[in-house]
Amino acid sequence: MPHRSDLAALYRNHLDQLTQYFDDAVERAGAAGTPLDGAVFHSGRVRLYHRDDEEIPFRPTPHYRRWIPPQGGPEHVVFARPGRKPTVVRVLPVDFWFDTTPPAPSYWEDAVELKDVQSFDEVPDALGLNGERIAYLGDSPEAAAELHIAESLVEPETLIAPLDWHRAVKTPYEITLTRLACEAAAAGHLAAREQFLAGSTEREVHHQYLQAADRLESEMPYGTIIAFNEKTAILHYQHKRGDAAGTGHSCLVDAGGAFHGYAADITRTWAVEDAHPVFREFIRELEATERHLVGMIQPGRSFVDLHLEAHHRCIETLRRLGVLRCSTDEAQDLRLSRLFFPHGLGHHLGLQVHDVGGHQTSPAGGCTPPPDEHVLRNTRTMEPGHLLTIEPGIYFIPLLLDSWRDGAHASAFDWQLIDQLIPLGGVRVEDDVLCTDSGFEDLTHELIEGRLAATLEPVH
Ligand code: GLY
Ligand code: MN
Repeated sequence: MPHRSDLAALYRNHLDQLTQYFDDAVERAGAAGTPLDGAVFHSGRVRLYHRDDEEIPFRPTPHYRRWIPPQGGPEHVVFARPGRKPTVVRVLPVDFWFDTTPPAPSYWEDAVELKDVQSFDEVPDALGLNGERIAYLGDSPEAAAELHIAESLVEPETLIAPLDWHRAVKTPYEITLTRLACEAAAAGHLAAREQFLAGSTEREVHHQYLQAADRLESEMPYGTIIAFNEKTAILHYQHKRGDAAGTGHSCLVDAGGAFHGYAADITRTWAVEDAHPVFREFIRELEATERHLVGMIQPGRSFVDLHLEAHHRCIETLRRLGVLRCSTDEAQDLRLSRLFFPHGLGHHLGLQVHDVGGHQTSPAGGCTPPPDEHVLRNTRTMEPGHLLTIEPGIYFIPLLLDSWRDGAHASAFDWQLIDQLIPLGGVRVEDDVLCTDSGFEDLTHELIEGRLAATLEPVH
């Protein structure tokens, strides 16, 4: 954990940068026809499950969280105005059902105007709202109405677009928080690997992951994906089998961890020693591909180039290991890599695991879709400060392959080998990488591989 005074200095710089982003966004909103005096960022409103008095776990809205990452209660607001220190109002009801004790004083408080109130009704007065042109960003139009904010200024796209655009460039403070999230996730992965190799079930691997990462389920940026055998080919496999049938020859763990709401997102695939040798070879090949693609990160290059290179490498791997029997050209013409690698190479990472703005064309908005109907969450040109995942995969998915078994191109595949690999599922390898002025910094690879190399014999 960084020292409190380091965090305080990092936070102050973060706030300066955020203020510049905000001022720029307000100017752009004005130029686009939405003149504004400021904006209220609302952490959000608690919701209940349908016809229930049970609360849906609360997660503060991401644009709010960017202002004060460590503070995330419901109904809190940040009031930002160009050229002014932001005002933060915490709503801390007097309550004995939940603990609403004010959190201990923290490093960020001196940098903002902080006010505590007991109910949301007091927020308009605490903010001193007085008929200015204020936008509302948050999940509750009702809350906006209670703040007397015009309906037309609830989440105006003209403001959200530049704010989303700027979210892609992380500040050093945000990178520090992300590193802490990555540390937790790496601890989880190392423990999960051991648990898998010891013969545990998917469910036990999941529990061990959370324990080692020291995270509650509600503190995870997304539900862990912990799959054995054929289920590793289900991209977002959601179950955790607790029975013996779940114990595996192959295991894919796609799981993160959050720190102050900043996400880590790491995937590793392992196989036991007597798993099919070609499957183990796929793991090795994909790890090498992933290293190659990470090495391609540099400012000024489109992320799309990396994605297309991943597809090229996918075809080469499938040919080299005998799954595809056709030429590279034929495989490309038939788009065969999409059968084995049906997801994007990666995405922006931050306050949301799939962070916003990946398809945005400019700060003003617009959409740059992936080329040629590819699936890909990021089509932007990389810049220093972009935080990206690199996650190539190769899977044996019957749903995508079956229609090719009898068609005109059936001979392009080795079906006997494919049928041996389907029970092992698929492989994905994912790290979190920062684009820097000179290239890249991988935040996660060494946290896992470095520690494995230091303490354990690699299994595959
Ligand atoms: N970690 C899941 C995903 O990136 O889709
Ligand atoms: Mn991911």
